[in-house]
Amino acid sequence: MCGIIGYVGKEDATPYLLDGLRRLEYRGYDSSGIAVLDKDGGINLQKCAGRLENLRRQIGDKPESGCCGISHTRWATHGEATDENAHPHFDQSGKLVLVHNGVIENYQKLRDDLEADGHQFLSQTDSEVLGHLIGLAYENQNGVKESNSEERLVAAVREALKKVSGTYGIVVMHVDAPGFLVGARLGSPLIVGLGKDENFLASDVSAVVAHTSDAIYLNDYDLVCLKSDEFKVERIDGGAADFQVSQVEFSAEDVELGDYPHYMLKEIFEQPESIENAFRGRLSDEEASAMLGGLQMSPQELRDVDRIVLVGCGSACHAAMAGEHIIEALSRIPTEVEIASEFRYRNVPLDKHTLVFVISQSGETIDSLGALREAQRKGFRVLSLVNAVGSTIARESDGGTYMHSGPEIGVAATKSFTSQLTLLTLLGLLLGRMRDMSVSDGQEILREIRALPDKVREVLKQNERIKEIALKYVEAPGMLYLGRQFNYSTALEGALKMKEISYIFASGHASAELKHGVIALITEDLPSVFVAPKDSVYEKNMSSMEEVKARKGPVIAITTEGNQELERIADDVIYVPDTIECLNPILSVIPLQLLSYHFAVARDCDVDKPRNLAKSVTVE
Ligand code: F6R
Repeated sequence: MCGIIGYVGKEDATPYLLDGLRRLEYRGYDSSGIAVLDKDGGINLQKCAGRLENLRRQIGDKPESGCCGISHTRWATHGEATDENAHPHFDQSGKLVLVHNGVIENYQKLRDDLEADGHQFLSQTDSEVLGHLIGLAYENQNGVKESNSEERLVAAVREALKKVSGTYGIVVMHVDAPGFLVGARLGSPLIVGLGKDENFLASDVSAVVAHTSDAIYLNDYDLVCLKSDEFKVERIDGGAADFQVSQVEFSAEDVELGDYPHYMLKEIFEQPESIENAFRGRLSDEEASAMLGGLQMSPQELRDVDRIVLVGCGSACHAAMAGEHIIEALSRIPTEVEIASEFRYRNVPLDKHTLVFVISQSGETIDSLGALREAQRKGFRVLSLVNAVGSTIARESDGGTYMHSGPEIGVAATKSFTSQLTLLTLLGLLLGRMRDMSVSDGQEILREIRALPDKVREVLKQNERIKEIALKYVEAPGMLYLGRQFNYSTALEGALKMKEISYIFASGHASAELKHGVIALITEDLPSVFVAPKDSVYEKNMSSMEEVKARKGPVIAITTEGNQELERIADDVIYVPDTIECLNPILSVIPLQLLSYHFAVARDCDVDKPRNLAKSVTVE
């Protein structure tokens, strides 16, 4: 949450910062701001509430010129989305500016103390307090030579950070130290982009990939000093930092919209490729199994696993719920799902043969990271299933597997979800083949996995038909989603997609739960979406559908190609190609993604940037 980018180079900073903010807007879009050190040594600051467009308009034809600057796009935590609360924030002297992502938990006490000493605050944010604290430490630096402003600034950042508790990714700039930026992180992501005669600090690599593919993923407690042709990474306490320069694995083009009107639609349509990328090089015909070398576990260690705990938030948690069914069906290993935010504060019993698996697209979700650290603190091996290469969860886990979905920018998770399901199936296959699964069953799963991309293409061909259905129900006051077994989590995921981008109430349920309460909601106006492929619970699903129809509730059914029977019961039927039961959710969720997309567009909602949300939830 919140995106920050700093630039120091030989060019005018403003275009770099605005372009970087555009790419980071998915992280928060309540307000934005930019501060550039101008040629006369003053700080030009522009900031305002609302979308980045507002800031662009405000800057208009009076762009600030200067080769060093910092900027921010906000997702409000402390204080409403107003001009005053937008970042960057000045210190008391007006000579230092700061951008911050994270939460300073003890800000109120610090603010009270500073106010008692005469500091005046212009915003309600916790971040401004940190700016004042650093500015004060800068003024009070005694141990460092007066003339060395850069050293003084670094020492001030170090000293101030000792006083705060909470999380931060910060970038700081001071008029006394032109062409010099200081960044630090704890709990909020920060990367360094290394260019030619220009360097960057940003919340993620997508902000800098148009200019460089050399990046350093900072660790917690790292501090970085940046000039146009020089960088230094150390620990905040002054110790040596362990870092390396990595190559970003995607290009600037990958983060462009192309011909699509929205990232969400683009990402839905990328699924044939993203699913293929998830399994490419990981299928073994010889062993009728999967190869997941990144887990870094020997066959013996994998055999010893007698329980799996899958952890995630939101859509990643729904993928985990599908994973529970898949892994148990394929390997018979008892598998449980924990919501990451619950897991980290709960004393979940684990034993030495329990494998904890954290699932996260961004690899930065603070609750998932907290869960990972909690399990590691207890001495457990924690693996991860992550999309963003070099992200904190990927780096801190003891092994794992990357999704290789490419950047997912639309706030609603789409392609990452189907990649997660694909990889959880590979995990189930690998573990199953180490136990009782036969070669022929393993081969069948491999065949079906390989067939997925083409089957997904078939589903996508129905886009226009799904749009028609969405338009038909666009005035609906809400939506119910129902599914069973492997597709219970598909129902939850479909409902989440609808809620988050269309702002109508939607809820997902196990179909048979209808009659235990939910059926009271059924009216002529409330559509129910049934995920009802021709599987082992098809007839049961059909009975639930009949119960809804008997009460005049409209029904949209997702079922298997060739199964015409549901035309008789349902008002609208969407067909997906046949596959094995455990892979059906990958196909069935796609019509649900498209349904919510078209629904949201028809309701004039901002599909890629739904209200109150941000893509990467890096605050608790
Ligand atoms: C829903 C959605 C969120 C994320 C959740 C976890 O469409 O995108 O629910 O799934 O915030 O994010 P990651 O996977 O980045 O940990």
